[in-house]
Amino acid sequence: MSLKQVEQVCAWAPATIANLNIGFDLLGLALTQPQERMWARRLSKVQKVELILEEGSTLPRSADKNIAGRAALSLLEKTQANFGVELRLEKSILPGSGIGSSAASAVAAVVATAALLPQMPSMELLLNCALDGEELASGARHCDNVAPALYGGLVLSHDYGQMISLPVPDWTIVVLHPQVQVRTAEARSVLPTTIPLATCTQSLAWMAQFIHSCHTGQHKEAAFALKDLFVGPAREHLIPYFDQCKQIALSLGAISGGISGSGPSSFWICLTLRQAQAVEFGLKQLMQNAQLEHKTYISQINTQGAYAIPQS
Ligand code: HSE
Repeated sequence: MSLKQVEQVCAWAPATIANLNIGFDLLGLALTQPQERMWARRLSKVQKVELILEEGSTLPRSADKNIAGRAALSLLEKTQANFGVELRLEKSILPGSGIGSSAASAVAAVVATAALLPQMPSMELLLNCALDGEELASGARHCDNVAPALYGGLVLSHDYGQMISLPVPDWTIVVLHPQVQVRTAEARSVLPTTIPLATCTQSLAWMAQFIHSCHTGQHKEAAFALKDLFVGPAREHLIPYFDQCKQIALSLGAISGGISGSGPSSFWICLTLRQAQAVEFGLKQLMQNAQLEHKTYISQINTQGAYAIPQS
């Protein structure tokens, strides 16, 4: 008996917070919201990707220049697929927000395309193809957004070792996205090229405490360990009202927080929804007083990761 071929799917991939202060280019977590949604439809044109963008979208229309398009093309080529895909993109995570918009597009595209294949490829292959897409945006192949968007949860990844999914602390996270543009390339250009040995050892100690706290279920201690010793301090001037945000969030009950990825979003970790709502309210007031357009999200850690559902 042959299984009926899937013709069309809808995929979801979550927004992510990269770095988490202690794990520059290494550590990231997936959020329960916002999420990116993407539809994929089988085409008879072999290994071709066609894109349908939202009205007014400024994203590249040519598949090999578009993050989602490139990721899907990579998967079709690497699996020698005998079909092509039409991808319909719905951007819920604003590009340049610092919460993994490009990673979510790349991951949604590979997960949607994979669901049309006769056999599910390995997660390693999906990760690799998503990185082919993400690389278009960031010029680098770090996994700190792509891996948590694909796998869900809290993921530690580096080029020379294993992908490690850490036990997930029970946090409620407030994300503030001031609607300004911070270019990742600029945010990377302000980073120090060397750090003092003492800073390096302190940072390693906080990372060790963080991992230990995740494994022992010490949610508050895990949040407390997120000390930003050299990346955040170099970038804070790029984030509007970052100091004030920090003071407000910590005074209203956040345990810690920092810059999400390369900004401009910031994240603030709370232990209860009530604290998170107070922090969100305080941050919104600050943004309103400064007349700065912004968005906020209250989110848990998303342990599901990206997924696709066949459509009829
Ligand atoms: N780890 C990256 C950075 C995330 O902070 O520059 C943005 O792609």
